Amino acid sequence: MNNTFSNNLIRLRKELKFTQEKLAESLGVSFQAVSKWETMQSYPDIELLPRLAELLETSVDSLIGYIPTRKGGTNYEERYKREGYYWGILPNRMCFEVMRLKPPITPLRLLDMCCGEGKDAVFFANNGYIVSAFDIAESGLDKGRKLAELNDCSVSFFTADMRDFIPDNEFDVIYTSGGLLYLKAEQRPGIMNAYKKKTLPGGLHSMNTFVNKPFIPRAPDSEDSEFYWESGELFSYYHDWYFRLAVAEQIFDCNSSGTQHQHCMDTIIAEAP
Ligand SMILES: C[S@@+](CC[C@H](N)C(=O)[O-])C[C@H]1O[C@@H](n2cnc3c(N)ncnc32)[C@H](O)[C@@H]1O
Repeated sequence: MNNTFSNNLIRLRKELKFTQEKLAESLGVSFQAVSKWETMQSYPDIELLPRLAELLETSVDSLIGYIPTRKGGTNYEERYKREGYYWGILPNRMCFEVMRLKPPITPLRLLDMCCGEGKDAVFFANNGYIVSAFDIAESGLDKGRKLAELNDCSVSFFTADMRDFIPDNEFDVIYTSGGLLYLKAEQRPGIMNAYKKKTLPGGLHSMNTFVNKPFIPRAPDSEDSEFYWESGELFSYYHDWYFRLAVAEQIFDCNSSGTQHQHCMDTIIAEAP
């Protein structure tokens, strides 16, 4: 039985401050039924799903973790089908910082969210981390699997939508380069706090995201599914953790669409107490 539905149910019920009893009453079922859904002993009847999704202020698709093709309009699925590696195969600079701060002297579990074609996930696996990595684009994961094979290392790649996927396991390092952009403002507190809870004591979060600056126009090739964060917003989620990388905000030039433009990016590496 897939745990996505039960994870989403528990997370959304708690976020909306429903008790199992209250949710059960609104649906006309027993609280034991809700308890069984949450502990993956059973699924609700199909005709209950629309009402359940409505009560939890989500869609049936999101609740059950169904990912329709091109959901959210990102076109990476197509880009990754082309020859070559869209993002190249060299690791992001943040990877070296993670290695420096938390070298895998003992076995360390690392999750790469929105891993694209897997260059960073493979770098970590090559260097001794136990790596799980997900993306919404299956074609990117296929490339990642090939890259891992070429490097003779093992990464557990899987498809998931970061807007409603919360892992079962806890991790020593949770990493994303470029993934947070796909969370709408209202989705961020729930997801960010859930991922903080899935981090072991002393574990790291290493993340970056594009942010708004009033004097920088939005990039000409930005997609409707991208939601820029506010400057400093990412840091605010870690007020109760140690900041390990000097908090960084960088403005840099980019020519990705053939038109010169600028981006502003916030980066953080924070350590759980
Ligand atoms: C800017 S790319 C970064 C890829 C990779 N982290 C890297 O640095 O090479 C953003 C990635 O997020 C993925 N993505 C977009 N929306 C997503 C979602 N809702 N859930 C999971 N992955 C998503 C895209 O498919 C894409 O691979």
